[in-house]
Amino acid sequence: MRTVRTVAKLRAALGDARGAGSSIGLVPTMGALHAGHESLIRRAHAEQDVVVVSLFVNPTQFDDGGDLAAYPRDESHDAARAADAGADLLFAPAASEVYPPGFCTAVSVGGLGEPLEGAVRGPGHFAGVATVVLKLLNMVQPTTAYFGQKDAQQALVVRCLVRDLDVPVEIAVCPTVREPDGLAMSSRNARLGAEERPRAVALDRALRAAESSVAAGEREASSVLGRARAAMAAHAVEPEYLALVHTDTLAPLDRIDGEALLAVAARVGETRLIDNVTLTPPSSNGRS
Ligand code: PAJ
Repeated sequence: MRTVRTVAKLRAALGDARGAGSSIGLVPTMGALHAGHESLIRRAHAEQDVVVVSLFVNPTQFDDGGDLAAYPRDESHDAARAADAGADLLFAPAASEVYPPGFCTAVSVGGLGEPLEGAVRGPGHFAGVATVVLKLLNMVQPTTAYFGQKDAQQALVVRCLVRDLDVPVEIAVCPTVREPDGLAMSSRNARLGAEERPRAVALDRALRAAESSVAAGEREASSVLGRARAAMAAHAVEPEYLALVHTDTLAPLDRIDGEALLAVAARVGETRLIDNVTLTPPSSNGRS
């Protein structure tokens, strides 16, 4: 695996493969790679001829300067994990390569960027994500780009961006990878203290409680949310948001008549965690 740091070198490195008609997979990341990222890279490796992993801690999507400063950075660790999972190229640009002096354009995201993470992190968050993702797609020009369902709202925003701006790429969304106890893998998990780590399963337990309530026939959002909230309370974790929304529009739902997204965010100590599950009532055949 080679590491390149400029768009010119990235394009040169991909030129032969593109000329030969090879397929290119892109896995955008901010580093601190874990098994969740690796699952995306492995899938890209299984499906594409060439796999590019981008490693860039995008400053414009952070609402909190402290969070940006605290973001873990260890390029040699990330390079080893990316190579092991099947990456051919690591694209690790400096901030000045992505945002050179005079940079003045941004993608504005509509209603999909407003609720849930957008409401907590501010309207700039998804604009920052959409802008850097569009730039990465233009830099790499992949056949397919891979994202995780762990960040369900981000995956929806990216799908919408690609459709609305006619970006010629396929978007693949991969399942959430979890620790054996159910905690969704995240670079933030390393920040959990010894007393906090066991309580962090609260988010997964909320999702499972909601799943079993729906499987048992419950359709009222308030009841399903009540079960989920109680499961979190058992671990002394208070949700920042716990919301049942439409899987495509993120509009709040009163009843679950087809597929629904249950999204949750909570702080465990100082560490902010998010998770989600798609709920499907047993009688519905998928989409409503
Ligand atoms: P980052 O948080 O590094 O995540 C990179 C990709 O890995 C995202 O698509 C995310 O959804 C996926 N991912 C994270 N944890 C996962 C898990 N437990 N299981 C499966 N996939 C998981 O998301 C970003 O970076 C940035 O916003 C980015 C898209 C790179 C733009 O800056």
